[in-house]
Amino acid sequence: MQKFVITGGRPLIGDVNIAGAKNAVLKQMAAATLTAEPVTLRNVPKISDVTTLREVMGDIGFELRRPDGHALEIVAREAPWPFIPLEAALKIRASFILLGPMLARFGRVILPNPGGDKIGRRPVDFHVDAMERMGATIVHRNGYYFASAPPDGLRGAEVTFPVVSVMGTENAVMAATLARGTTVIDNAALEPEVDDLIVMLQSMGARIARTGERRIEVEGVDTLRGTEHRVLGDRLEAETFAIAAATTHGDVTLHGIEPAHLGAFLEVCERTGVVVETDAATATVRVRGDATRSYRPIDIRTDPWPGFATDYQAPLTVLLTQAEGVSNVHETIFEDRLDHVRHLRRMGANIEVVDERRARITGPTSLHGAEVEIADLRAGATLVLAALVASGTSVISGIEHVDRGYEQIEAKLVAIGARINRIEA
Ligand code: EPU
Repeated sequence: MQKFVITGGRPLIGDVNIAGAKNAVLKQMAAATLTAEPVTLRNVPKISDVTTLREVMGDIGFELRRPDGHALEIVAREAPWPFIPLEAALKIRASFILLGPMLARFGRVILPNPGGDKIGRRPVDFHVDAMERMGATIVHRNGYYFASAPPDGLRGAEVTFPVVSVMGTENAVMAATLARGTTVIDNAALEPEVDDLIVMLQSMGARIARTGERRIEVEGVDTLRGTEHRVLGDRLEAETFAIAAATTHGDVTLHGIEPAHLGAFLEVCERTGVVVETDAATATVRVRGDATRSYRPIDIRTDPWPGFATDYQAPLTVLLTQAEGVSNVHETIFEDRLDHVRHLRRMGANIEVVDERRARITGPTSLHGAEVEIADLRAGATLVLAALVASGTSVISGIEHVDRGYEQIEAKLVAIGARINRIEA
């Protein structure tokens, strides 16, 4: 087991290259199974979720090769073993994204219900409903979904999501690309990662258009072709480093991130007083903290894009512990995403849990080092951020959760002046 040992209190200064987005690349790997031709993805982050999905796809019978560090070549000629074991799905819930493309292309797939995780129940009913509307038969037995398409393939359908769902939208779009006729998806997700997937699918020959505010129309085609696609920059990694720069009163320039993709996070920076300069032409964002002025408290609630992302919520809390006054955070997407609070309290934060979705943060507080354990990815980034601003040394275990979504976080932090070591425990 590995741990991070972090000694905080240093301003972080320098440049950081932002990796490709976890929440885009996993779906794009799945999209590569929609064609028998080779697909090359560029800007693929070196994170363990990619490795895990690569293993899952390899076991199904697809060929995956990493010719250089950040490229990934995928050839999905056939699927001799269209089965995803529970053990793999527990590690990577996003493996459920293979449902839509594999049903559309190969007509069947067996995959487990990944169940809940540390941030909430995370059901998959929207995915299942969407596929059934397109003609699929899905039998749930012994924890597995046995999904099959009719002999003549999936058919276009009207799909309306009761709640905006990122992966639900992506599964429906991918299934629809090879279905007969037109699929209309309403209450669809608008996240930049969904659009990046659509761009990739269009380059493969898919006919997809956004025809209304939350409407996507897909006209099915017979086959798709191979493509080469560059994964967009990871807005969640960018935001993590932005908060590190702000809380440590540093000065960090992020490269490889489209400023528009930071969306509501930029507004939050403005409201709290974090100085941000963006340059869309060079895809850079510079974030500075001013030690002579205190940050302002804010009230935020999480929402689907273009609202404030649930994934930013926990990391932002660290900034709010440094703001002068009372801030309120309302998590509306997942029912159990305040687990970081008890750890931040142990580090000296003044946070009251109002109910399971609401927290009240009173600042500013001086955080101090502590021994803490990470239970999920974004909570993990949050504890790393807290340790970077805390006085003294923190020891953080459970860092494999951070490795799921952050490429070499400690190397990037060391390069901008942090004192962080990965140790074998
Ligand atoms: N939901 C259902 N039924 C479903 C699907 C979703 O009730 O069949 C509910 C969820 O429980 C949640 C809401 O709908 O309350 C929205 O969930 P969504 O489907 O949008 O989440 P997701 O697609 O499973 C992705 C990201 C998450 C991110 C959420 C919200 C990936 C691989 N994961 O999950 O990212 O928090 O969208 O934006 O894209 C992370 O990166 O740390 C992470 C958890």
